[in-house]
Amino acid sequence: MNMLTKSLAGLSLGAALTLAATSASAAGGHGCGTFTNADGVEEHLACSEAPVDFTNKGSLQNGAKIFMNYCVGCHTAKYVRHSRIAKDLEIPPELVEKYLLVTSDQIGDHITAEIDPDVQAAWFGAAPPDLSLETRLRGDDWVYTYLLSFYEDPSRPWGANNLVLPNAAMPHVLHNMQQTLSKEEFENQVGDLVNFMAWMGEPVRHDRKVIGAFVLLFLLVLLIPVYLLNKEFWKDVK
Ligand code: HEC
Repeated sequence: MNMLTKSLAGLSLGAALTLAATSASAAGGHGCGTFTNADGVEEHLACSEAPVDFTNKGSLQNGAKIFMNYCVGCHTAKYVRHSRIAKDLEIPPELVEKYLLVTSDQIGDHITAEIDPDVQAAWFGAAPPDLSLETRLRGDDWVYTYLLSFYEDPSRPWGANNLVLPNAAMPHVLHNMQQTLSKEEFENQVGDLVNFMAWMGEPVRHDRKVIGAFVLLFLLVLLIPVYLLNKEFWKDVK
C-alpha cells in the first residue's frame, strides 16, 4: 500500500513539474529580425510585447472589428467561424451579422478573403497567408512588432517597407489609421488587433491556463493527505 502512496506522491510531483516547465517554455520570446540603420550599421530589432489579454472582451471586440475592416480584403482566417466570434467575444449575433460579416453571408461561415489569394500572389508577388494561426507561427510579439514597423520607402511598389519583414509584399494597410491617431492610440489599436489574432490562434488559451492552475492547486492539496497517509502506513514498520 505504501508503494501506492509513494508512487502517487511521486506522480503528482512529476506532473506539477511538467506543467510548470510547459508554461515556462510557452513564455519564450522570438527575435524580430535585423535591419541596417541610416549609418549602414546592422541593428537587431527587439520585439515589443503585445498586450494580449483574453479577459479584456472590449479589446477583443475592437480587434475583431479592425481585423474585419482592414485585413480580410486580402487575408483569410479559414479556421475561424463568425459564430464562434459572436459566442466567445460576447457580441450579439445580430451585430456580428450587421457589422462583421464582411466577406460572407452566413454567420456559420469561416472567414474568407474578399479577393482570391491566388490572384493576389500575382499582384503582390506573394500570396497573403491565412491568418488563423499566424500568432502561433510567429508569436504574438512578432506580429505586434511587424504591424508597428511599417515605414515609408518610395523605392517599394506600395511606398512602404517593413523593418521586421524587409521588402514585405504587404502594403501598409493601417497607414491612414496611423496618421489620424497619436502614437500611443495607434499602438493601442494594433494591440487590440493582435489580441484578437492571438485569440483566433488559440481561443482556449486563457481557459487552459486557468484549468492548469486548478490542476496544480489540486495536486498540491492532494499532497497533504498523501504525505500523512504515507507517515501512517510506515509508522509501525520502522
Ligand atoms: C492589400 C492586401 C493586404 C491587406 C489588406 C493585408 N495584408 Fe497582410 N499581407 C499581404 C501580403 C501580400 C503578405 C505577404 C507578405 C510577404 O510575404 O512579403 C502579407 C503578410 C502578412 C503578415 C506576415 C505573414 C508572415 O508570417 O510572413 C501578417 C502578420 C499580416 N500580413 C497581417 C495582416 C493584418 C493584421 C492585416 C490587417 C490589419 C493585413 N495583413 C492586411 C497582403 C495584405
